[in-house]
Amino acid sequence: MLNTDNPWLNIPASDYEGHMGSPDVGQLQLLNSLFKTALDETAPESLAVLGCTTGNGFEHIDFSHTARVCAIDINAGYLDIARKRFESSAKNIEWRCADIQSTAMGISEFDLVHGALIFEYVKPEVILPKIATAMKETGVMSVVLQLPGDDLPPVSKTPYTSLKQLAPLMILLDRQTFTDLAFRSGLVERSSEIIRLQSGKEFFFATYTKSRRHRRGARPISA
Ligand SMILES: C[S@@+](CC[C@H](N)C(=O)[O-])C[C@H]1O[C@@H](n2cnc3c(N)ncnc32)[C@H](O)[C@@H]1O
Repeated sequence: MLNTDNPWLNIPASDYEGHMGSPDVGQLQLLNSLFKTALDETAPESLAVLGCTTGNGFEHIDFSHTARVCAIDINAGYLDIARKRFESSAKNIEWRCADIQSTAMGISEFDLVHGALIFEYVKPEVILPKIATAMKETGVMSVVLQLPGDDLPPVSKTPYTSLKQLAPLMILLDRQTFTDLAFRSGLVERSSEIIRLQSGKEFFFATYTKSRRHRRGARPISA
């Protein structure tokens, strides 16, 4: 069931893209290139994108190779825009309007599960075990997290004031806390880097695979 109180439902796509793409923020461009990196490194046949917004970076999906894409977002308006943008290039995208905390993600279905700037708005301890279960044995999870910064507001100041309502919802995790939570869900870090934007904000880009123990069918440690 959708949480209709979620502030993401009140942010127009034009405000979101204007804010994230503005020169002072520059996050749309960063997320676009990190999604491309994750796709290039994994060449998935099946892909899930959590919090896909308006389809940032979907132009990098090789639809001749990636046979299945499940793109999930809580905001139906964002998905409508994404669908229109990609309807001529891709027929194999399932645009699913759902809260990722309550929707089913399946069992051993995906080669790549990509979640960029989504863990800030959900409970990682709820999502990570679902992701681990939805990944194939050799699957990869790629994530982008905004790291906590002492002197910077979590939502940068731009003329797009509707974004301010996200601040009370955002919880920024440090990399070790996230990696520990992922480990408890049966996922081990495979690669990671920290990227600092001109704004001073830092982002953690990492990939995870299933631990050997989890591959053998062990259940995640419950949170
Ligand atoms: C910062 S944006 C993600 C950026 C995008 N992944 C990219 O790479 O450009 C966060 C997205 O997550 C979605 N979202 C937030 N909470 C959600 C939830 N509980 N379930 C599904 N989508 C959610 C929002 O609607 C928004 O589109």
